[in-house]
Amino acid sequence: MTILVTGATGNIGRRLVDHLLRAGATEVRALTNNPVKAALPPEVEVVEGYLGRVETLPAALAGVDRMYLAPLDATVREVVSLAAEAGVSRIVDLAGGKATWWASIEVAVEESGVAWTHLEPGEFMDNYLMWAEQIRTTGTVRDGYPDAAVAPIDLDDIAAVAATVLLEEGHAGKAYELTGPESISRAEMVAQIGQALGREIPYVELPHEEAVAQLTPAMGEFARWYVDGVAELARHPQPAVPTFTQLTGLPGTTFAQWAAANVGAFR
Ligand SMILES: NC(=O)c1ccc[n+]([C@@H]2O[C@H](COP(=O)([O-])OP(=O)(O)OC[C@H]3O[C@@H](n4cnc5c(N)ncnc54)[C@H](OP(=O)(O)O)[C@@H]3O)[C@@H](O)[C@H]2O)c1
Repeated sequence: MTILVTGATGNIGRRLVDHLLRAGATEVRALTNNPVKAALPPEVEVVEGYLGRVETLPAALAGVDRMYLAPLDATVREVVSLAAEAGVSRIVDLAGGKATWWASIEVAVEESGVAWTHLEPGEFMDNYLMWAEQIRTTGTVRDGYPDAAVAPIDLDDIAAVAATVLLEEGHAGKAYELTGPESISRAEMVAQIGQALGREIPYVELPHEEAVAQLTPAMGEFARWYVDGVAELARHPQPAVPTFTQLTGLPGTTFAQWAAANVGAFR
């Protein structure tokens, strides 16, 4: 059974390749723009291409049974139609649910006629690397809404689920909401990063408009949307869901474990 991993050097795709190999998959094909630079494991069949360059896909899709679809809205309709033509029997996509930015990906996949499984992760733990620079340079976090709580997930846990549902039967037609194992406030996250560093990191609460202004250089018009969402999470914390453990039988990575593993970024 040939499994195509698109975005195979990306945050999720690269980890997925490793999970598939560790689970014993022997026919893993990886799609990358630059096979030499990608330095993928030697067991993997590396194919040159990118979801955004659809002309590269017929060759990559030939003989593929199942595929992991990295999120690229711009070309998704052509991509899934090429997958259907190539006889792909299941698409596992990284999206985010019908009420999110990624809805168009799920709709296109569903309309392709290929059996599908949607992965719907919430916020990624890696998003909190956004505090790394201020922690490194000022030793504090200045941001809004310390009580806002989310259940962020580790990238490797998303990849582990993707490998599980690609390799197992019984996941067609399912949409899996994915979170980390705990709902945790921003203040607790900063405290846990401090524990990993071995020092206390004060959380200096910014008013809404200052939080928007601070993010605008990096996020542009999305800064206000993001901070509005954080304010909402202060009123309605995001609960954790047990899907990761139900699917993999493993405990999800906690934020404290993530902080310890990524402590170098904050030091
Ligand atoms: N709930 C959520 O928060 C959520 C849900 C779904 C998706 N997402 C988003 O999904 C993304 C997943 O990231 P990912 O790193 O796993 O995969 P990705 O951004 O799709 O990138 C995968 C690979 O595609 C190639 N690539 C990306 N952009 C390119 C471009 N403009 N031109 C040419 N090649 C390009 C690169 O491969 P090469 O090395 O081969 O060049 C890259 O490593 C994140 O940006 C995340 O924010 C978030």
